[in-house]
Amino acid sequence: MPRIVIQNLFNREINSKAADRKVIELIHENGIDWMHACGKKGRCTTCKIILVQGEENLSPRTSAEEKFAKLGRLKSNERLSCQARLSKGDLIVRVAEINKFPHLEYSN
Ligand code: FES
Repeated sequence: MPRIVIQNLFNREINSKAADRKVIELIHENGIDWMHACGKKGRCTTCKIILVQGEENLSPRTSAEEKFAKLGRLKSNERLSCQARLSKGDLIVRVAEINKFPHLEYSN
């Protein structure tokens, strides 16, 4: 069963019963506030996740992600959570500093 751990959100765990789901949908369905300024359309980078482990369990980069990578707005260890789909296994991620909400408390 796919599982997401958000490291700097007190290692919050999300367990998914279904494979091949967008990372941001799993995050939102579990009541976690996560930026998505363009409405999950791959047109901004506010939904990005920093990959710690499990990159191999994600779908390949989409053309939107390739575009932002070329522009230098998405590093090699970053993905857009509205584009990346989790098919199996564990994924450990972090919230980017710039995309943290002021009303939420984050950990190290
Ligand atoms: S919400 Fe804008 S790119 Fe993902």
